[in-house]
Amino acid sequence: MKIIFLILLFLIFNSITVSGIKTFQVLITGFGPFLNYTTNPSELVSQNLSSTCKGFNIEGYEPFQVCYEGWVVDVNETGVQKVQKYLEQNGTKWDAIIHLGLDDPALELHIELIGANIKASASRSSFDPIVVGGPNIIPSSFNLRQFNIRDLSSLSKVFDQQNEIFSRDAGTYFCNEIYYRTLYVVHETPILIQNGFLPVLFIHLTDFLIFNLAQDIRMVTEISGYLIATSYLPYEPNF
Ligand SMILES: *[C@@H]1O[C@H](CO)[C@@H](O)[C@H](O)[C@H]1NC(C)=O
Ligand SMILES: *[C@@H]1O[C@H](CO)[C@@H](O)[C@H](O)[C@H]1NC(C)=O
Ligand SMILES: *[C@@H]1O[C@H](CO)[C@@H](O)[C@H](O)[C@H]1NC(C)=O
Ligand SMILES: *[C@@H]1O[C@H](CO)[C@@H](O)[C@H](O)[C@H]1NC(C)=O
Repeated sequence: MKIIFLILLFLIFNSITVSGIKTFQVLITGFGPFLNYTTNPSELVSQNLSSTCKGFNIEGYEPFQVCYEGWVVDVNETGVQKVQKYLEQNGTKWDAIIHLGLDDPALELHIELIGANIKASASRSSFDPIVVGGPNIIPSSFNLRQFNIRDLSSLSKVFDQQNEIFSRDAGTYFCNEIYYRTLYVVHETPILIQNGFLPVLFIHLTDFLIFNLAQDIRMVTEISGYLIATSYLPYEPNF
């Protein structure tokens, strides 16, 4: 086993299905190119993690591993419906879903707290709903109570450059729309795990202004491990 990151309380390592430890499946979506962004970091991160597994050793939790499925979706009406349609037809085969995207001008890194019922529009001045009669906003289903964002070492560089990481506005474009659609189907169906809704999170990456690709990958990996641990595993101080 090759150890790639050694962090004080948080160890991530490459893994090829270690027997005897719990394995979780996480869907990571990224968007293809749009506007003047000919390479979309969200696509690169999603592709890089796809079909890989990482082991986690986080203080307070039993060791576990996460295997990733990466989907790159088109930045249009078809693309943003892909996950929703899959979930509606098949239910979930993942233990968590992380959507990645880029906004314009993509200067700050944000973890989005809500999806809004606003259909993507190029003009950004019309406000048609995504779901007629649907809730105006749907909160993320990740376990915020246990999510101490400042514990994540991969994010320390972000806090050197911006004050906030949580955002209450995912915009009015396809990033918001894919998030709302997934949250909508998770809440309305509902798609449940043992102690709540299936965890769904949206992360807005920057256009490689704060992180390079390897750092983006590490950050998304670390957040996914934290998300799985706090959603599925008991906190046991002795681990
Ligand atoms: C979205 O983009 C894909 C790939 O270019 C295309 O096949 C599909 O028809 C597009 N959908 C819409 C609604 O434009
Ligand atoms: C449901 O799952 C089947 C089998 O994996 C797949 O072929 C189909 O495309 C899925 N449905 C949707 C709407 O994605
Ligand atoms: C894309 O255009 C916006 C302005 O519309 C600009 O702020 C941004 O830096 C550009 N990004 C790239 C990758 O050129
Ligand atoms: C994914 O990123 C890592 C770290 O940057 C790199 O070593 C690896 O070659 C990449 N893998 C793929 C399939 O792009």
